[in-house]
Amino acid sequence: MNAPIGVMDSGVGGLTVAKEIMKLMPAEQVVYIGDNARCPYGPRPFAEVRKFTWQLAEKLVRQGVKLLIIACNTATAAALKSLQKHLGIPVIGVISPGARAAVKASVKKKIVVLGTAGTVASGAYESAISSLSSSSAVIPLACPKFVPLVESREHTGEFARSLVQETLLPLRKQSFDTAILGCTHYPLLQPFIEEVFGQTVTVVSSAEETARDAKRLLEYENLLANRNGQPKHIFYTTGSVPIFRETVKDWLGIEEPEIRKTRFI
Ligand code: DGL
Repeated sequence: MNAPIGVMDSGVGGLTVAKEIMKLMPAEQVVYIGDNARCPYGPRPFAEVRKFTWQLAEKLVRQGVKLLIIACNTATAAALKSLQKHLGIPVIGVISPGARAAVKASVKKKIVVLGTAGTVASGAYESAISSLSSSSAVIPLACPKFVPLVESREHTGEFARSLVQETLLPLRKQSFDTAILGCTHYPLLQPFIEEVFGQTVTVVSSAEETARDAKRLLEYENLLANRNGQPKHIFYTTGSVPIFRETVKDWLGIEEPEIRKTRFI
């Protein structure tokens, strides 16, 4: 079935998930929405995040998507259950896949979760991890400065490196062997995060595991695309079209991406 897969995030972070989907299922068309104008979602009350997430989801449903991926941990924590119950198409989030990848990787059963204030406060990773492994301990850490850094495309320089070092300081006395990037923006900071944690810690992101879940679901529902040739992906942003275009070009390697402006207010 050649209907697109809908992918949404508060901003550019969900592109890390879209990238894995495009890699794993090259015949699938992706329609993406980044709500850059209202990013970050992390510090917002959950009721507001839920409202925004529903607006994005309904926009994607109007585009005829066959599957919705909430490629944002904060939005997953706030709205996954209500979307799964009421949206009328399959919906998957990023928290269960990330938790599963971390439980698989951890030998010591001590798992750090880096996330937004909202995701950390929700306890969603603790629930997901304890349902998979009751003996695993979770050490959560909110990293509120990371998302603005990635959104402003400042995630590669020395400033970013020292901000990551400073943010992760509270973990220096903890003993753990696995860390989840519990925000889809954080894979962009992964080199600096790994530099701090060293080689004894496995850093997992939910992007690959989420893409695998999406593929399994589409296979099971007999909804995989059967086109020949490359699909044309579409990217909506509520923010700046030129900035979003540069990010899509850089991160996804698409030369002339189709970027469209949308708004919800
Ligand atoms: N990418 C979102 C997440 O995974 C970022 C949240 C935000 O906008 O603060 O949580």
